[in-house]
Amino acid sequence: MFGSHRIYLLCTDSTNEYIKRLLKKQEVEAGTVVCTVQQTKGRGRAGRFWESPPGGLWFSILLQLEMSLQQAALLSLVFAVAVSRGINSFTHLPCQVKWPNDIYLDHRKLAGILMETAGGPGDEKLIIGIGINVTTDMDDVSSTTGKTAVSMEEFVDVPLEIDDVLEAVLLQMEEYYCRFLQEGAEAILSEFKKNCLHMGKEVRVNLSRGSISGICVDIDREGTLLLDTGNGIEKVYTGDVEIL
Ligand code: BTN
Repeated sequence: MFGSHRIYLLCTDSTNEYIKRLLKKQEVEAGTVVCTVQQTKGRGRAGRFWESPPGGLWFSILLQLEMSLQQAALLSLVFAVAVSRGINSFTHLPCQVKWPNDIYLDHRKLAGILMETAGGPGDEKLIIGIGINVTTDMDDVSSTTGKTAVSMEEFVDVPLEIDDVLEAVLLQMEEYYCRFLQEGAEAILSEFKKNCLHMGKEVRVNLSRGSISGICVDIDREGTLLLDTGNGIEKVYTGDVEIL
């Protein structure tokens, strides 16, 4: 089902936006994938710009929202584990995940996920946008992103085909999605925690207003990050984690 229908583009503003425009014009099958060589207005979490030159895997997948929004929030962690599993089959160093849905390799960001909802009441959709630096030349990305980001190529000894990465990632995404629907999130959350870059570490979470610091002690069954601030356990629902 994931990728049963595909649209390949050379260039678009953002594959998430492309799907949203398509939805306004016509019926779009669940599982549809839109993949592009480059994006001119790639979007990241929290309204950030996502550098998307050729050499990366930039794609979005459309799903029918068949669960509560609270459950859908968990999907963001589920897909982070799935994407990292897909990538692991190529790289000699295993990926790690960063809450809520970043994928890291060698302590630098390799991939990110932007999940958005679309459609109206009774017909809500999920758009999952995934960006992976596959053979992206880090000199092509802005100096700030370039320093903190990494591409798969650095950790693979053979030439990489972006299409092969797409297939591997889609396969894992579908598998983890089915597991989530059938068994719930518990086992996948354990996997997330086991591969989490900052579990047990002192972190600062930058929120839209201010920040909060503490030891990252757990992620609960709702996918909420739990921080021990020294004055008790604080729940963090959203934000950017920075390891101190
Ligand atoms: C993040 O880590 O901030 C999320 C990045 C998500 C980037 C992908 S690339 C394909 C899709 N289209 C977009 O505009 N964004 C997502």
